[in-house]
Amino acid sequence: MKRIGVITRDCAGVNATIRSLVRTADNFNIEILGVLKGYDGLIDNNFIRLDRRLVSGIINQGGTILKTSRSKRFYIESEQKKAVKNIKNNNINGLIVIGGDGSLRGAHLLATKYDIPVVGIPATIDNDVNGVDLAIGAETAVNVALDALDKIRDTATSLERIFVVEVMGRECGYIALQVALAGGCEEVLIPEKDFDITKMCEEIKVGSLHGKKSWIIIVAEGKAKGHDIAKIITEKTSLETRVVVLGHIQRGGHPTSIDRIMAARLGNYAVNVLRNGVTDHCVNLKHGKLGTIPLEFAVQPKKTDVNTYYKLIKILT
Ligand code: F6P
Repeated sequence: MKRIGVITRDCAGVNATIRSLVRTADNFNIEILGVLKGYDGLIDNNFIRLDRRLVSGIINQGGTILKTSRSKRFYIESEQKKAVKNIKNNNINGLIVIGGDGSLRGAHLLATKYDIPVVGIPATIDNDVNGVDLAIGAETAVNVALDALDKIRDTATSLERIFVVEVMGRECGYIALQVALAGGCEEVLIPEKDFDITKMCEEIKVGSLHGKKSWIIIVAEGKAKGHDIAKIITEKTSLETRVVVLGHIQRGGHPTSIDRIMAARLGNYAVNVLRNGVTDHCVNLKHGKLGTIPLEFAVQPKKTDVNTYYKLIKILT
């Protein structure tokens, strides 16, 4: 293997992953070509040669130095063929795809439909890659959200208000659950679980009668809009409610030590398995040990036991 292409999505830890795989590859005299702007860059022949020096000083940076896109074009077969042609014309012998569900689906397609050697590295704040306990970026996102939540609590307590905090999570409640438990929140609404808002409002009313003055309710964006939930609470309880939508701040920021260490290990391992002939798999850390999972499995919907955390949140309220 002489040349590996790298495609990225953005979240904290992606740059640290790029650094790890560039420097690992360099030890084997393998060149790394970064694909600029995700799958769009593959279609548009938009590459940059990465070397040891170019990846210095990025270990602590959020985002991706390669830029990225949510490529709609890559769904079109004629565009996929352009991408494959560019991979061949640039003498790329294998690809490493760093990203979440959508990116890994693209990787699986390149491996199965076009026979391109591909290895994925799970990196997504949603932490929804099947079979993967923790994706790169998820831990940082939870800490960013938790830091914001702690600040919101200062006002919630001081002004005796209800706060509804909307966090990211398009189809899963990973950030919401983690933050609700770590932040000592009263309630959490997630896509994986049915929710009775009338019951919650009754609980708030009863609590209020007994002197409880502030609540923090976490809502995963994939479940409901924070503003809609707040409106219902105010209508049903007549209590003052404020909304904070945390949004994209959760995807940025300096990666935590856990994300940097995962980035170092998974980036290094991805190069090793790819050069040893593994394809159509993504790398994974399970119980501290490195391994791989078939991409076909990784892109299936992730089944998570949300009840254990949810029950604990309710017990500790
Ligand atoms: O998939 C990660 C994620 O941050 C989701 O949590 C969120 O719903 C989505 O991406 C936002 O996407 P975009 O940045 O394209 O608006």
